[in-house]
Amino acid sequence: MELSQDLLARLLAESLRARDFAHVPYSGYRVGVALLDEQGRIHIGANMENASYPQGWCAEPSALTAMRMAGGQRAVAALVSGPGPEIITPCGGCRQKLREFAVPEELVILAADPGGIRQRWTLAELLPHSFGPSHLNF
Ligand code: THU
Repeated sequence: MELSQDLLARLLAESLRARDFAHVPYSGYRVGVALLDEQGRIHIGANMENASYPQGWCAEPSALTAMRMAGGQRAVAALVSGPGPEIITPCGGCRQKLREFAVPEELVILAADPGGIRQRWTLAELLPHSFGPSHLNF
């Protein structure tokens, strides 16, 4: 999908806005995600930590849940924003969660921080040779 400068700016603004909703009393590391669905709509999510540390979850599943609850079927872009300065990349588990609702060669993943967009990949680049829903059509 063609991501215009205007659309990228909107995704960045929404992803950074999502960071404000992060619940991060333990790490202090705010993550926001803005997902673009196949209908061109944007859904946001943030990480939610927990006093029982392993029960916390990342920003990506928050955003995927928002997308699904709004009727979105497929993510075509995911803009993930962290605090910087090191470029954020989705953790391994989140790459697999994104895989469930994406075409790996189609989904564009953008990494950002409050200073702007830093890097861009496809999901296929971040999660090569992935295991996906089609494997279960045996
Ligand atoms: N985190 C995310 O939300 N997404 C990622 O892809 C990487 C890590 C969160 C989890 C935890 O709340 C914090 O960042 C520090 O690991």
